[in-house]
Amino acid sequence: MTTPPFATGTDKTVPDLDLIVREIAEEMRARPDRGEVASYIPELARADPTAFGIAVADADGHVAVGGDADVPFSIQSISKVFTLTLALGKVGDRLWKRVGREPSGSAFNSIVQLEAENGIPRNPFINAGAIAVTDVILSGHQPKEVLGEILRFMRFLADDPSISMDDAVAASEQRTGFRNRSLANYMKAFDVLENPVDYTLGVYFHHCALAMSCRQLALAGRFLAHGGRNPATGLSVVSPERARRINAIMMTCGHYDGSGEFAYRVGLPGKSGVGGGILAIAPRKASIAVWSPGLDASGNSHLGRIALEMLTQRLGWSVFG
Ligand code: DON
Repeated sequence: MTTPPFATGTDKTVPDLDLIVREIAEEMRARPDRGEVASYIPELARADPTAFGIAVADADGHVAVGGDADVPFSIQSISKVFTLTLALGKVGDRLWKRVGREPSGSAFNSIVQLEAENGIPRNPFINAGAIAVTDVILSGHQPKEVLGEILRFMRFLADDPSISMDDAVAASEQRTGFRNRSLANYMKAFDVLENPVDYTLGVYFHHCALAMSCRQLALAGRFLAHGGRNPATGLSVVSPERARRINAIMMTCGHYDGSGEFAYRVGLPGKSGVGGGILAIAPRKASIAVWSPGLDASGNSHLGRIALEMLTQRLGWSVFG
């Protein structure tokens, strides 16, 4: 059975996306269980635990929104989807010499696996893997140039020049990111990183500190839902094959040791961040962003995941049929 198109407002035989999204936002606002706001990056602890936002960008250019969909938050590890896209654009499949593409089954900041695997991170979404990806983008450039490139890429994808990086969040992580510094130094010892550790980490902390709203994030993810192409402009970002493969890595590795649970409950590729955001991709249908700062034990948004589970159930969206 194929999913019916969305209602235009009067036809009640097909799901009304705007209504469903608004209802989910209201249900989420009322829930008492919110998870724990991340505090290991002190600046993130300032987030409002009662916030909840959702935005669903469909193929026709419509964005259904609910709750705090226009409030910017720290996208953190969701940025890793976009740096992976840039690194693949720069070096293609040679990237896979520096980083694997298997689920890790361990925490996003785990150190033990790196030693057992000769400094090659399991995948591009755990911290070690994302730092290696950042190092690939940085080679041959100055940190400032690369940060400018990442920012221009995000603004281009979302078609929104107001997107920025939050320097206070980046500085907060610069001061406290001892685990990431350990991961980076360890990879440097294995020659997995080419650039000075401080340069690579500086770029990594800053791209994690991108501040975006659910609306902006959903718009930025559209190319992954539509065969590598922005459906609004028709402009190609990556090939259809590359979009499929980035989605595959999001599905298998996007929620760290919570990736199996996310696939089971939501059934879509997704990438989380410790700021409480999740970007999820419904191929050929929509790019979805949710945000609620409280996290579960794996560091993924508690209500964000529940909201996505509700949305996909109500719409019958799943890559598994
Ligand atoms: O490197 C860190 O720890 C953070 N900048 C990003 C981690 C993150 O978002 C994990 N995701 N849920």
